[in-house]
Amino acid sequence: MSWVSVTVDVSEADSEWVQTLLTEAGAAGLEVRDASTPPMPGVRRPSAGEAIVIGYFEQAADADDALGTVRDEVPGARAVVEGVVEQDWSVAWRERIKSVTVGRLWVGPPWEKATAPADKVCLFIEPKMAFGTGDHPTTSLCLAAVDSYLASHPGCSVLDVGTGTGVLAFAAKKLGSGRTVGTDNDPVAIELAKECAEENGLSGVELSTKTLDEVEGTFDFVLANILANTLIALAPLIAPKVKHRLVMAGVLVPQADEVRRAYVAQGLVSAGDVVEGEWIRLDLVHPGA
Ligand SMILES: C[S@@+](CC[C@H](N)C(=O)[O-])C[C@H]1O[C@@H](n2cnc3c(N)ncnc32)[C@H](O)[C@@H]1O
Repeated sequence: MSWVSVTVDVSEADSEWVQTLLTEAGAAGLEVRDASTPPMPGVRRPSAGEAIVIGYFEQAADADDALGTVRDEVPGARAVVEGVVEQDWSVAWRERIKSVTVGRLWVGPPWEKATAPADKVCLFIEPKMAFGTGDHPTTSLCLAAVDSYLASHPGCSVLDVGTGTGVLAFAAKKLGSGRTVGTDNDPVAIELAKECAEENGLSGVELSTKTLDEVEGTFDFVLANILANTLIALAPLIAPKVKHRLVMAGVLVPQADEVRRAYVAQGLVSAGDVVEGEWIRLDLVHPGA
């Protein structure tokens, strides 16, 4: 069976209204991408201040009616109807996942186990409902930082905020970190991260949905690959956890100054940036370290 989608680009303020209209028009499923949605490889993101709402319909006629309703009721919304070819999503998803090599690390899906390079430290990440397969630029920017920091600071303590699949925490552990903690506010991500830890034969990485004020201690190396607005909001909680170095990603180049300022205001000092395409990694250090 094939589906027909109605894709609506709309202001964030009108996003819920559009979701209601599509549901009332008979959408069998809804997808919403907004500032709180982690960026996914190969998936179009909304413009600043907007959301993308997609309704999936079984009947083309229902999709056309929904399009008309949205256009009538929400002036300014940009809505289009598209046919969606039914496909085996598990296979389609697999085709999009690419293994990456970053320094000493190789990160790839479990079905590439047989061909994984023998001379690399390999991590196998099953792509399910959590972000962090390695092939997104924000993740690989952080993996490069993990590789170089662990090379010069073996045994260091590591905190990975927004751990997703756990990929950064696991990379650190595989490269010889000491106490390693991964937190995420999404319980599903933490469940998957625990499965991933098992898959990779890793024990001892502390994975939980604890908030940062519930996590004890400070850490030599803190990683946070989250979106810019979340990083800014979390600055008063993340900065006090940094004993030596903080590495942040999930930030678009134009957002960098604002994010950096939030951490400099907490007493950290900029230690340089790394840019990959539209993404930027921000490194900061504790001045007393
Ligand atoms: C872009 S993914 C990064 C995943 C992985 N660390 C990586 O580098 O690929 C961001 C993760 O941060 C989590 N997150 C978002 N807001 C958060 C918050 N306030 N506290 C903790 N985790 C959060 C999301 O659930 C998501 O798993």
